[in-house]
Amino acid sequence: MAVVAVTSPLPGAGLDRLAAAHEVRRHPRGSPLEPGELAEFAADADALVTLLLDRVDASVFAACTRLKVVANVAVGVNNVDLEAARKAGVWVTNTPDVLTEATADLTMALLLAVTRRLVEGDRVVRAGRFTGWRPDYMLGAGLQGRVLGIVGLGRIGRAVARRALAFGMTVNAHDPAPPPEAGVAVTTFAELDALLPTVDFLTLHCPLLPSTRRLIDARRLALLPRGAYLVNASRGEVVDETALVAALERGHLAGAALDVYEREPEVHPALLGRDDVVLAPHLGSATRETRAAMADLAIDNVLAVLAGRRPPAPVVEPGNRGPGTGDRDGAD
Ligand code: GLV
Repeated sequence: MAVVAVTSPLPGAGLDRLAAAHEVRRHPRGSPLEPGELAEFAADADALVTLLLDRVDASVFAACTRLKVVANVAVGVNNVDLEAARKAGVWVTNTPDVLTEATADLTMALLLAVTRRLVEGDRVVRAGRFTGWRPDYMLGAGLQGRVLGIVGLGRIGRAVARRALAFGMTVNAHDPAPPPEAGVAVTTFAELDALLPTVDFLTLHCPLLPSTRRLIDARRLALLPRGAYLVNASRGEVVDETALVAALERGHLAGAALDVYEREPEVHPALLGRDDVVLAPHLGSATRETRAAMADLAIDNVLAVLAGRRPPAPVVEPGNRGPGTGDRDGAD
């Protein structure tokens, strides 16, 4: 019987399946756990199940010498030091596919909410400030016939593209390594800087990597046409939040809808008071079915490794010097 350290409670029945075969240890407080806490918690564990808030750095791999697998309950693995895992000969797994549609739905919800001023309107009604329909009241932007720019044509980016096409939008996209067959009618741009001036709305679906940290900075925001909107349901650090605030303040952007934040869960204070911004608390995959499916997949990953089998969703495979980012979406 192996020891499996699980940092937080998980939805669904996955943990019961795990407990039927192995000793499951729960952290008394739960995520977010810092490396020192993880190292102590998983010191003698064979497997570690983490959330995206837990920081699994090289010191954790050095301290947890029995570890065979880190199973992240997320598609993004930016909270795990993949190179250290590889050196330590530890599998790292994630939960792709099962959250693709939910995250794409949330992206469209954000896009609709910000362009049609839904959250602002809700506040108006609740405050008793709705005095009746007027032809020029609370006008927003329509999606039909407009251009959606997608950064990252992984599973989630493509699922967003399918939805946007059904809304009558044109989709332009950039991905440094586009899939050979996107399977959706999008126009791809080899250079991100060439994509930006062509879009009315920009949505981000790339993983957080050194190359994508603050990818959308002041210079790139300025390349968007005046009046464009930004949607981010990937990782907060992909956007320079201070530059975003400045672009909103000078009216260059018409609005932004964010599910993730640069210093999550902190939010830039200047965003909080703005009516042209929709702020969601990292809800991309937050449906009951999806979160249960993510937990199930994470447990399947653990059970497979502990049984000496290849896990269904490997990101780092011990002994394999592959690309190592494991997932192209990385988004929520
Ligand atoms: C959530 O943000 C995920 O990466 O699954």
